[in-house]
Amino acid sequence: MQKDYDKILFDHYQRVAKLNGLAGTCSMEDPYIRESETNFFLKEIDRFCAQNTGAPLTLLDVGCGNGYLLNRIRERFPEIKLLGLEFVPELFELALSRAITNCTLALGDARELSFFPSNVDLIVTERSVINVMNRQDQLLLLQNIASTLRPDGLYIQVESYREPLDLLNQARREMVITDEIEESGHNLYLSENIIAPMAQMGLVEVEATYPPNYLSTHFYVSRVFHKAVLPKGGKVKYSLFAEFFREALPAAVGNFSPILFRVFKKS
Ligand SMILES: C[S@@+](CC[C@H](N)C(=O)[O-])C[C@H]1O[C@@H](n2cnc3c(N)ncnc32)[C@H](O)[C@@H]1O
Repeated sequence: MQKDYDKILFDHYQRVAKLNGLAGTCSMEDPYIRESETNFFLKEIDRFCAQNTGAPLTLLDVGCGNGYLLNRIRERFPEIKLLGLEFVPELFELALSRAITNCTLALGDARELSFFPSNVDLIVTERSVINVMNRQDQLLLLQNIASTLRPDGLYIQVESYREPLDLLNQARREMVITDEIEESGHNLYLSENIIAPMAQMGLVEVEATYPPNYLSTHFYVSRVFHKAVLPKGGKVKYSLFAEFFREALPAAVGNFSPILFRVFKKS
């Protein structure tokens, strides 16, 4: 059943679907962030596969968008049975058009358990829980993930959190950058206090292959350092300056990336 806040979501994704089609930029403009997210998912799936040989595994992307991530997973893991659930028809159609082998897609709402299959080995979300702009509904979605995973299955999560966003804005204020970075209109960021209820659902956080704050250096360099020294008329986005310092410095310094990489095991 659609909620009032879904209109913002539909308007946003119908627009980006039209503009980006099958491109990876459909849900993330920043190519470094997109590629890092994809690499994190692939690395976690790789680790899980190595520990779970035998019957073919199933993986569900909740909020699979235009199918970009599912396609990248298929390229690396030809045997995994893939499942995708998507709410926005225009994105669902794009994902379908990829004709990914051994992949079943459903058009439906992740807040409703009836759209979920059962006994899945791996579930991924890539900034889709934050699209649910109501705290109770976010919990419902997470509960659906918990109910769908088989025991010892993994929930691999790439979602944005409020606390690092506050720190990022504090760092910007230090450098007299006056405009705050805000959550975009179709998002409601999670908060660290979601971890305890998730554990009660049986989703217990475990150590991941990447540090959760993997993108922190990138966010500090591109959203604080670069902005602070940018000369009038200088290149604003995806500059060589930001690339240079991101490469020169170790990843995961500080807690300045709202996007966190986390892994939860179903107990
Ligand atoms: C950031 S995008 C995901 C990107 C996707 N993994 C990809 O490869 O492009 C988040 C997706 O979650 C979907 N979504 C948001 N709320 C949803 C819901 N209640 N049920 C199903 N999908 C939802 C959005 O429509 C959007 O496509």
